[in-house]
Amino acid sequence: MRTLVIVPTYDERESLPTTLAALRERVPDVDVLVVDDASPDGTGEWAEEAAASDPRLHVLHRAGKEGLGRAYLDGFRWALERDYDAVVEMDADGSHRAEDLPRLLVAARPGPDGVSPDLVIGSRWVPGGAVVNWPWTRQLISRLGTAYARLALRLTVRDATAGFRVYPAATLRRLPLAEVESQGYCFQIDMTWRVERSGGRVVEVPITFVERTQGRSKMSRAIAWEAITRLTRWGVEDRWRRVRRRFVGRQALRRRA
Ligand code: GDD
Ligand code: MN
Repeated sequence: MRTLVIVPTYDERESLPTTLAALRERVPDVDVLVVDDASPDGTGEWAEEAAASDPRLHVLHRAGKEGLGRAYLDGFRWALERDYDAVVEMDADGSHRAEDLPRLLVAARPGPDGVSPDLVIGSRWVPGGAVVNWPWTRQLISRLGTAYARLALRLTVRDATAGFRVYPAATLRRLPLAEVESQGYCFQIDMTWRVERSGGRVVEVPITFVERTQGRSKMSRAIAWEAITRLTRWGVEDRWRRVRRRFVGRQALRRRA
């Protein structure tokens, strides 16, 4: 299985080297693509230099900071053009432990029935999952985010915003990625919903999420607001579609009678 790990970066000069070294040590047989949004701290230049001496490391430079969603969409396109079999999403800041990745990759393989999942999520909020050093405010935001996503979109997953994932290439090929508009962390919910509502199977694997020790989170009020407004709109539209479908169905029955 040819696997590409996509690591989006914005000002991760301090964290990225450690994250890449851990990946090399724990999962040596994967390729890595750093997607950098012209980080002012020189993350992109550092990655470029590192890639010069590592044929399995690649760097995609974007013109400016446009959000996690856009960075991943560019990364997905890059991966599909190069025929990778599986694409991993992973943060640069050390929150996602390379030692957890082999378990995620195993979960992405076909089961005894020959069927492989459409998405594997490294989950903090399933039994065995954990968060370390995350302030209670962030834990609350994360839990509320998933709770709202489950309510509004009738999602079944326990960690809808998780950013440590494995997408089999087949999943990315069949989803209409060009339609995805989410820019911030709501991109994760957006993609989860697309997989679930298209009948895809999602598997959650417990992971330990460790809060970064260097650099700063890019979480912002704008990112939270985008998630709230998009979720609400999707939820309302989805319910409206359902009501209409039921109504139209009933009318058709009446006409037949
Ligand atoms: N290229 C690019 N462009 N990368 C970005 C951008 C952007 O606009 N914004 C954030 N990133 C990168 C960061 O550099 C980091 O590698 C990763 O995306 C995650 O960003 P953080 O700022 O560390 O996120 P967090 O720790 O606050 O949020 C975590 O929890 C969220 C909610 O559960 C992450 O795991 C998110 O993926 C998750 O949605
Ligand atoms: Mn982080």
